[in-house]
Amino acid sequence: MKNTLKIDIVAGTRPNFVKIAALIHSIVEKGNDRIKYRLVHTGQHYSDSLNTSFFEQLNIPQPHINFNVGSGSQAFQTAEIMMKYEMAIIDEMPDLCIVVGDVNSSMATAITAKKMKVKLAHVEAGIRSGDRDMPEEINRIIIDSISDYFFTTTAEAKSLLINQGKHEKNIFFVGNTMIDTLLKFKDHLIEPALFKELGLQNNSYLILTLHRPNNVDDAQKLLQLIETITKNCHNHPIIFPVHPRTEKILNALSIRIPNLNLTPPLPYLEFVYLLEHSKGILTDSGGITEEATLLNIPCMTLRDTTERPETVSLGTNELLGTNPKVIKEALKRLFNGTWKEGKIPDLWDGKTGDRIVEIILNKI
Ligand code: UD1
Repeated sequence: MKNTLKIDIVAGTRPNFVKIAALIHSIVEKGNDRIKYRLVHTGQHYSDSLNTSFFEQLNIPQPHINFNVGSGSQAFQTAEIMMKYEMAIIDEMPDLCIVVGDVNSSMATAITAKKMKVKLAHVEAGIRSGDRDMPEEINRIIIDSISDYFFTTTAEAKSLLINQGKHEKNIFFVGNTMIDTLLKFKDHLIEPALFKELGLQNNSYLILTLHRPNNVDDAQKLLQLIETITKNCHNHPIIFPVHPRTEKILNALSIRIPNLNLTPPLPYLEFVYLLEHSKGILTDSGGITEEATLLNIPCMTLRDTTERPETVSLGTNELLGTNPKVIKEALKRLFNGTWKEGKIPDLWDGKTGDRIVEIILNKI
């Protein structure tokens, strides 16, 4: 390996920021000045609530470069990011490009890096939901099919990649960078203003988050989900931080339900505070199922599939889908106190970023 390694770290969306925070902190602390990194922000997420607050709260340095791609169709985002990243690679010629997760920004930069002959590493490699209707699943398949190095969150993800013919020497089961960030900031959570404003009590409210196209783009389906949950929550307050994609559809529905409290997306430290003190969460996010497992908070996933099966087999998560009867029955179990206790998956220990840096310095 060269004395100094030039690495691009790519981030474009809210969940990416949580993952790269841990990686950058480890590079700064453990990189022995041998890693020169460039933080490449695609600008897929740009609002204060999805972007700026995460950089501030998680001590992420300002990006070296920002493509400001903004909103648009997936094809528009992909094309814009690819064109801009190509220029950025020509400017700097990194030795390695690291992409995290499964969002459009990760997929677009992965393809560009690989075609420009830059080595490619995927953090959170080898996970699959099996649902090819999800854009994220297509992104995962594409990124893994062209990556040179794979960092996995579970031993199962490593096995999947080996079964797909990847060389074992290039696959590293390192744990979960999102959990690194959670453990690092767990003692610095912030009570959101709405906690007192709404008179919330510990362990006596629910959180709801929904943003998957399959759940929110059809207004009637979204309405049915919300009504099922609000009717079966035993009058507990429900806090619903609304993602911009969901907000557009909700505005058209003009819902007014007394125990449903809509709020803008919360900054990280406030959101995790709310999660840690809640009775349970209903969500279609993947990352939140991991955070709920670590915090031992009951989690109901409103999807038919998950790419994070360990949150179900070991953790507090259950895969409910969107059938009203199933959701009603699960809420009953939550309120009669029979929800399962979770266990913490292997290597969710806060040291994943350090392991990745050690591997970059010594093994690739
Ligand atoms: C993206 C990711 C998803 C991730 C989610 C987390 C893909 C395919 N999807 O979905 O995996 O779980 O982020 O939030 O990459 N918008 C704003 N402000 C912003 C960003 C977006 O208002 O800062 C609006 C856009 O106008 C757009 C909508 O939100 O209409 C969706 O944004 P987009 O980035 O396309 O996808 P997400 O649904 O956020």
